[in-house]
Amino acid sequence: MKKLLITGGAGFIGSHVVRLLVNKYADYSVYNLDALTYAGNLENLDDVKRASNYHFIKGDITDEAFVDELFTSHLFDGIIHLAAESHVDRSIADPLSFVKTNIIGTVNLLNAAKKVWAGNFEGKLFYHVSTDEVYGSLGESGFFLETTSYDPQSPYSASKASSDHFVRAYANTYKLPVVISNCSNNYGPNQFPEKLLPLCIHNIKNNKPLPVYGKGENIRDWLYVLDHARAIDVIFHQGKVGETYNIGGFNEWKNLDIVELLCDVMDRKLNRTQGESRKLITFVKDRAGHDKRYAIDASKLKEELGWEPSLQFEEGLEKTVDWYLSNTNWLEHVTSGQYQSYYSKQYSKYED
Ligand code: NAD
Ligand code: DAU
Repeated sequence: MKKLLITGGAGFIGSHVVRLLVNKYADYSVYNLDALTYAGNLENLDDVKRASNYHFIKGDITDEAFVDELFTSHLFDGIIHLAAESHVDRSIADPLSFVKTNIIGTVNLLNAAKKVWAGNFEGKLFYHVSTDEVYGSLGESGFFLETTSYDPQSPYSASKASSDHFVRAYANTYKLPVVISNCSNNYGPNQFPEKLLPLCIHNIKNNKPLPVYGKGENIRDWLYVLDHARAIDVIFHQGKVGETYNIGGFNEWKNLDIVELLCDVMDRKLNRTQGESRKLITFVKDRAGHDKRYAIDASKLKEELGWEPSLQFEEGLEKTVDWYLSNTNWLEHVTSGQYQSYYSKQYSKYED
């Protein structure tokens, strides 16, 4: 039986990874370690919380003594590390919390794995989940390859790049068995409404302005979250130790175009006149240091491990909108309390 630790499993992507692995591998013990920050939500895992192969541990990866004790008492075979501060805008407002969680938290996990595995690495794996933002920003053309030099531009991406470097340094120095993946923008159910698509879904529903940074010309490469979870499963089980895999949707969109498409889908779902929600689009001050374009070349993952996205974007967007419209309790819970003060600090200056 494999004993697997997933960090950040109560978050957006982590909860999909936990669900996939708990349902697919009945003979694994899946431990979800999560500090339940504003972004962590156990409601994301209501459907698997009673599974006999699933266990939740509340804890903070920045707490060195706690992490050390956890690893000593559990002797995990594998770690899939997703816990992180993940929102670029928050990193601009408070870089230090990104340093703590994303860098120090990752090093605590690496140290604990190194200590408890003590050079006996047979059958062990430390899988670090990272982002395409470590590669910086692209111009009009070109793609991020696994060999592209790191050039992070925001405090968030600098902290993720640093954690990637630490993971590789532990592989090189201590021979820790690691694998890293760098993925493009995810969308889908359970994403916290600080990120572009769920924020706009929430605002369209409530007839509130849709804040588009700058002229809406920045480009992102969108992947349905379940396809990311499937890629993580494939890489964890079949990836070559020491390798890096890029994961992406082959699906680039300008921000303004994607928000307009979302408005049209929402108008249809909410029985509004076509074009009505587009009137909510409001151009606001640009994000500081806003990366122009991300685009992943995921052909290594496709050619070596046979993974490719399963959903067309339009289908994934419909599924996402349907999920948010039918999970109103989830949306209400996460947009009450702390969210209100975050939102007014970040956006109220743009409202009438
Ligand atoms: P998220 O913000 O939705 O979830 C992060 C989770 O980590 C939350 O459950 C939170 O409670 C937990 N967490 C935060 N700090 C912690 C700490 N100190 N100790 C323990 N748990 C802690 O993030 P997400 O969007 O699901 O991203 C997950 C991972 O995937 C991150 O590492 C992120 O960098 C990476 N990633 C995200 C995307 C994306 O589009 N969202 C794309 C590529 C890579
Ligand atoms: O590329 C992978 C990354 O994608 C992940 O590593 C990050 O964790 C994840 O948050 C995401 O980062 P982005 O900054 O690209 O995502 P976000 O949803 O914040 O923004 C998407 C684009 O939309 C970006 O160009 C900024 C713009 N935007 C965002 C918000 C929140 C707006 O125009 N208005 C907004 O209100």
